[in-house]
Amino acid sequence: MTDPHSNGNGTKTPPTTTNAGIPVASDNESLTAGAQGPILLHDHYLVEKLAQFNRERVPERVVHAKGGGAFGELEITHDISRYTKADFLQPGKKTEVLARFSTVAGEQGSPDTWRDPRGFALKFYTEQGNHDLVGNNTPVFFIKDPSKFPDFIRSQKRRPDSGLRDNHQQWDYWTLRPESAHQVTWLLGDRGIPKTWRHQDGFGSHTYQFVNAEGNRSWVKFHFKTDQGIEFLTQAEADVLAGSDPDHHRADLFHAIEDGAFPSWTVKVQILPEEDAEGYRFNPFDLTKVWSQKDYPLIEVGKLTLNRNPENFHAQIEQASFEPSNLVPGIGASPDKVLLSRIFSYADAHRYRIGSNYAQLPVNRPKSPVHSYSYKDGASQILWNDPEVPVYAPNSYGGPAADPSRADNDEGAWQFDGRAVRAGYIQHAEDSDWAQPGTLVREVLDDAARDRLVSNIVGHVSNGVREPVLSRVYEYWTNVDAGLGRRVREGVEAAHGQTVDTTALDSAAVSSTTASV
Ligand code: HEM
Repeated sequence: MTDPHSNGNGTKTPPTTTNAGIPVASDNESLTAGAQGPILLHDHYLVEKLAQFNRERVPERVVHAKGGGAFGELEITHDISRYTKADFLQPGKKTEVLARFSTVAGEQGSPDTWRDPRGFALKFYTEQGNHDLVGNNTPVFFIKDPSKFPDFIRSQKRRPDSGLRDNHQQWDYWTLRPESAHQVTWLLGDRGIPKTWRHQDGFGSHTYQFVNAEGNRSWVKFHFKTDQGIEFLTQAEADVLAGSDPDHHRADLFHAIEDGAFPSWTVKVQILPEEDAEGYRFNPFDLTKVWSQKDYPLIEVGKLTLNRNPENFHAQIEQASFEPSNLVPGIGASPDKVLLSRIFSYADAHRYRIGSNYAQLPVNRPKSPVHSYSYKDGASQILWNDPEVPVYAPNSYGGPAADPSRADNDEGAWQFDGRAVRAGYIQHAEDSDWAQPGTLVREVLDDAARDRLVSNIVGHVSNGVREPVLSRVYEYWTNVDAGLGRRVREGVEAAHGQTVDTTALDSAAVSSTTASV
């Protein structure tokens, strides 16, 4: 009889076992009562295999379901200790990092090249615990209040009746929410479909707080500038890839790292001194606005490099749990209401999607010691404290004790009055939903990029958007820029086969601007 454990080249393969490590009799045949008889229930390995298979999936993320990621390193090359005492941001520090990139609205099997913002989620395994920066490839967002998030997302997802995505409902929502204009201008422009995840910038997007060793605070925004250069796909290129190579971006990252072409980003920050915030021309906590780099230039901090592929996609990428609540000493939250709500939302999502002990999984587990009184049992508990350490606080037996200085310095403290209000953001001198997208269209885009923006908007709107939403679409883009609004109307009317004056299809009008961004 041939030895089933010999693989023919002199080495031995290990025996197949059950999950309990017990050798099994066959990889091929189920146990039956005679060759044509029924399968026997005590074929435990068969039952285990089928039952385990039925439970192989966790729910996909409710947003950002399709993505991919890799591990790497953050190296700090410049000294920003005057702004933050965060240990992992001190000069010379190197910190292991996990990055996950994603689209927002598509499901797990959806094409990577659908037009959408890209998630740019980072988990830094610092010596002071995990620090997560869960951003996008855009510096702004569609909404500035978290109460709008589920409505916004549902308008981009599939309809409840037909199960189809619907441009009409997307524009219905966007045009009823003028604060979306800045992000929608980014989305319908070239940045809406990066060539690869390596060819896009990343942004923390929100305003965070830095606290230095003396307890001084400043406001900060994070930028990750791609060292590969910004490159994008046209709508036509993306449409082809969506059919021929739906995992295009996931494959590109994996193969680049496999080939040793490690992608990197230069990490920069903008610092807004605490005392500037009140008088700044834009509300610095409004997520639909950027801070002008003329007002607050970029300051170089370090280099982010991705150099290690996951070994198991499910365990290390699908179960990766990023949470804006992970903020290490020296970095805090800000009055940005969307950020404040996200501090609740993500850990809650992980408890549902992965389970209450999600943070114990190797990919989510900090590399620093954990002494939490929150960890006590629950599904899939795999870590526990030394049995000598009490499971309650306070105690008389040397259990961990909290550090009250964290409250003074690190918990994102800022001045506010204590009345409960639903007041929106305080208006600053140049706050307007239209000013910054208008500046982006007129002053940042060149003629060719403006032409592609018009073409992308026209293509999207011509596909299913009807009155009364259509008229609001023209008004929306006219508010951003009069010339752009005119070209969108003419382009959509032409696509619908209506007569238009083609001489009017000139480049977007350059009109006066209130803001210089
Ligand atoms: C994923 C909620 C705004 C970036 C998610 C998830 C939820 C969520 C529940 C799924 C988490 C999971 O199951 O792992 C919200 C809410 C928001 C909001 C309630 C506003 C009120 C934003 C903003 C950004 C952002 C403003 C970027 C600036 C991301 C990214 C992911 C994500 C990158 C995927 C993380 C990963 O790769 O696992 N969001 N989100 N979200 N969100 Fe948000």
